[in-house]
Amino acid sequence: MSVLVTGGAGYIGTHTIIELDKAGYEVVVVDNLSNSKLTGLRRVEKIIGKSIKFYEMDVCCEDSLRKVFAAEKINSVIHFAGLKAVGESVAIPLKYYENNIVSTISLVKVMKEFDCRNLVFSSSATVYGNPKSVPINESFPLSATNPYGKTKLFIEDILRDYYHANPELNIALLRYFNPIGAHKSGTIGEDPNGIPNNLMPYITQVAIGKLEQLSIYGSDYKTCDGTGVRDYIHVSDLANGHVLAIKKLETAPGIVTYNLGTGNGYSVIQMVKAFERACGKKINYRLAERRPGDIAECFADPILAKKELGFEAKFGLDEMCEDCWRWQSANPNGYES
Ligand code: NAD
Ligand code: UFG
Repeated sequence: MSVLVTGGAGYIGTHTIIELDKAGYEVVVVDNLSNSKLTGLRRVEKIIGKSIKFYEMDVCCEDSLRKVFAAEKINSVIHFAGLKAVGESVAIPLKYYENNIVSTISLVKVMKEFDCRNLVFSSSATVYGNPKSVPINESFPLSATNPYGKTKLFIEDILRDYYHANPELNIALLRYFNPIGAHKSGTIGEDPNGIPNNLMPYITQVAIGKLEQLSIYGSDYKTCDGTGVRDYIHVSDLANGHVLAIKKLETAPGIVTYNLGTGNGYSVIQMVKAFERACGKKINYRLAERRPGDIAECFADPILAKKELGFEAKFGLDEMCEDCWRWQSANPNGYES
């Protein structure tokens, strides 16, 4: 029996394939390579020492999905495929609503046709909007301020509604905090297109000399040092959370929602200092205006995932930064290197 990984050529998908393989699962990947390269999957094949079944296709296309389900014995699905750039989602909202929502609906319809009963969905801490306090637990109110976040919120709602009508489908909604880091081999990692929007890839590109200076967005938040606080989680820890979620769905059916975070919040300045320790260089930065839409603090209450999934992040901040640096310094141009 196999796990279908949609968006498996991407950042979190590639790392998750490795954890699935370690846990003894067969993997089938579908991806349209709109935000990834085949090189990532080829490198995963080297790490796990076997070839990966890969279909280049759009998850929105029901007919293509049917062909995959007809050809493979799919027991569970992890649905990573989606567009994730917040700024682009504001500029081109329909692209996000169409891609993220239609892909999920197509997938669920085809899963029903083939009686496939376990679905893990990539949600995001962005569904908590601007939380009233931290740490954030799963029962906090939900809201979203940009089209990307709204797709996550709408899809969660769609899946909850679908579950009530079709309780035979087991669903895990996983709300990720801020994934960073890379596989220990340094051969796979995050490879953003163009200038990175997210903090960690921006810092690593300053360290490697591709970018001149980090702008720290906001130094007057009510946080330990005025800069924004987030819950950074190693992508391999996050990947492992998906294996635990699949196991949970296999043994305890229903619909479940979990935060995947560490429970620790670090400020932008703390991240810069940690990265300087890891790479042995100074990071050139300046204090800049707040970024519109940003919140001061966001970190998880990870207790429910620990209690019900047995999930606990293993990697600390220094290791996350070291792993980012190993990947970036060995692959200055990402998968183009
Ligand atoms: P990513 O862009 O690296 O991976 C997503 C993959 O999906 C890419 O390989 C892309 O080519 C593919 N894809 C997109 N639309 C597709 C479609 N219609 N059909 C087939 N393939 C398609 O992103 P990631 O960081 O690995 O994120 C994976 C998931 O986790 C996304 O749904 C994202 O929204 C969610 N998420 C990510 C973060 C983060 O910070 N990285 C945080 C919270 C949630
Ligand atoms: N930041 C800077 N300079 C930069 C980039 C970021 O100071 O160049 C700061 C931000 O202001 C924020 C922190 O670094 O305080 C983290 O910013 P990121 O852009 O890395 O991450 P966000 O928390 O804003 O958002 C990310 C994803 C969202 C996702 C969310 C929760 O981009 O899609 O994590 O998972 F929803």
